[in-house]
Amino acid sequence: MELGSFRCSLCGRRVKVHNRSDAPIFDPNTGFGICKNCIKEIYHNIIEDEMEQKFSSKRTFADTLGELLEKNKPHVIKEYLDQFIIKQERAKKILSVAVYNHYKRMKYGIDHAGMDEEIDKSNVIILGPTGCGKTALLSHLSKLLDIPFAVTDASSLTEAGFVGADVEVAVRNLYYAAGQDIEKTEHGIIYLDEFDKIARKSGENNSITADPGHEGVQQGLLKMLEGSVVEFTARGQRKHPEAPTIKVDTRNILFIVGGAFVGIDKIVAKRVRKGESNLGFGADIPPKEDTDEKFNELIHQVRPEDLMKYGIIPEIIGRLPVICTLETLDEHSLLRILTEPKNAPVKQYQKLLAMDNVQLEFEEAALLAVAKKAIERKTGARSLKGIIEDVMLDVMFDIPKTERPRKVIVTEECINEGAEPKIIYLDEENLPA
Ligand SMILES: Nc1ncnc2c1ncn2[C@@H]1O[C@H](COP(=O)(O)OP(=O)(O)O)[C@@H](O)[C@H]1O
Ligand SMILES: [Mg+2]
Repeated sequence: MELGSFRCSLCGRRVKVHNRSDAPIFDPNTGFGICKNCIKEIYHNIIEDEMEQKFSSKRTFADTLGELLEKNKPHVIKEYLDQFIIKQERAKKILSVAVYNHYKRMKYGIDHAGMDEEIDKSNVIILGPTGCGKTALLSHLSKLLDIPFAVTDASSLTEAGFVGADVEVAVRNLYYAAGQDIEKTEHGIIYLDEFDKIARKSGENNSITADPGHEGVQQGLLKMLEGSVVEFTARGQRKHPEAPTIKVDTRNILFIVGGAFVGIDKIVAKRVRKGESNLGFGADIPPKEDTDEKFNELIHQVRPEDLMKYGIIPEIIGRLPVICTLETLDEHSLLRILTEPKNAPVKQYQKLLAMDNVQLEFEEAALLAVAKKAIERKTGARSLKGIIEDVMLDVMFDIPKTERPRKVIVTEECINEGAEPKIIYLDEENLPA
């Protein structure tokens, strides 16, 4: 028997009332009512929200830290880096340990929270010539650890109050690399590239034209390296007093500063020679000639005092306890870089052409020619890709013109004289003579 009806104030449907449960909420005075279906839905949503919070609540970084450490022991990190980076054995070892220790220190801090016990931060300074793998090492490292990583060019930074980017930009870049997640940002890695460009001009190695603001930039970076709360505005937002800011604590951010530090080998050589002559032998040993071997020997001997001579202020050096040095790559190493790493240029082109039913081969002499050309350009492994790319452009343009299976052989002449690569039609080869 119908007792009457009302209109649900939520869904607007008219509801016929046969018993009490048809009108769980109804006020005859105002006509306000909510029907059975709407109540069910509201209840359902509340339960769902609660369950979601209970079960899929985001794991914090602290939760995953133990796993991260368990999975990434130094030897495992190094093995991973070995797949991509040729040589630089020492650098790979130093970085593997530095990163492992960094996250161990963080775990220690969490496990001993409030106990006023801390392990010092181990920021890293990485030195090595252009194109020897500094950036590549760090980017592979961050990929392995699945940790946000951002590169900021230190030479673009200026002292507060000067026109240009403030030091906070380095943290802001990381914040965006971390998908604007503050917690992730606070556990990421910041790489300050071209750090040698902000050496102060009184450093032995600098010309008088160096920017006097550089010492100020170093000062600005001090607190950040050590750990402080850095405040910055969102990208594209002009800085003014009312602009909303984002705050990031840099205490657990690993800072790695790097650069070519051209000329640092001379500073080391001078110190070493002085040491030798003080010891009484070889009072006037003439400086040895500049060879890559000599450079590689010297670069691994860089000490904090050499960096100070170069124009890095002592306070900064004190916050960069780990010195990681990379060597100049010789012809043989460049040759290996072309073919060996997991992402080697030759492998990449082979994969691309295989998609067009084409086998790609580089003659040994061709690869050697590429390496030799790269050595002439003095930009380490950096120019390898460009040199191959020049040759491959024509190949990649011509290849898809037919679908016949082929073998393309890149010869020395292709690299040195721009000759066409050899092409063997594989379907023809199989025809009876
Ligand atoms: N030791 C190396 N092993 C493998 N690839 C390397 C090595 N050094 C440089 N490369 C390659 O050369 C290019 C430039 O290297 P990069 O790391 O940017 O040099 P930089 O030392 O100037 O930062 C990258 O594509 C990188 O993969
Ligand atoms: Mg670099």
